[in-house]
Amino acid sequence: MPDPDPSRPPEPPQHEEPAQHETVSNGPFWLMVFGIVVASFSVMIYQQSTVQRSIVVPDFNGLEQQGAGIFSANCSGCHGENAAGSGNGPTLIHRYYEPGLHGDSTFYDAITHGATGHHWNYGDMPPVDNLKNEEIAAIVAYIRKLQTANGIHWQ
Ligand code: HEC
Repeated sequence: MPDPDPSRPPEPPQHEEPAQHETVSNGPFWLMVFGIVVASFSVMIYQQSTVQRSIVVPDFNGLEQQGAGIFSANCSGCHGENAAGSGNGPTLIHRYYEPGLHGDSTFYDAITHGATGHHWNYGDMPPVDNLKNEEIAAIVAYIRKLQTANGIHWQ
């Protein structure tokens, strides 16, 4: 084995640089995507459970039919068509409004004096002051029929 040339400068020491990982972690990005997906689903579920529901519409008798017309003209702007709920007010086809919890007098009170919001987050209901008692009775008959057809019973 020949002698190494003594005039040759010694090899510079080889530094083993730790490999630099230039790639930035994708973790925060995917976390954000996940967050957005979860948030959108929550909004969808929230809206389905509190704002609107699909309503079975039964056959109405004369009084109920009359109530439907009065409801449509005075209430559906907030409570939705078929009382299914809207962005302005809750569905009335809900167990909160079954006759045992909100008896018929609740309707007369809410219509005559307005109602302080307490079950949902829509705020208060203003009085609807142009309705006669017979018209309110027709609305109640209509709502009770809708409730029964959708499984909301006295409990
Ligand atoms: C301007 C919107 C609006 C209109 C119009 C409206 N409501 Fe309401 N209604 C509400 C809101 C908001 C509530 C309160 C919900 C809560 O408890 O958070 C409410 C509550 C009620 C309640 C429950 C009251 C209670 O004591 O909990 C009944 C019954 C009711 N409305 C019936 C009607 C009927 C019938 C009409 C039409 C004659 C009508 N509403 C018109 C928005 C409205």
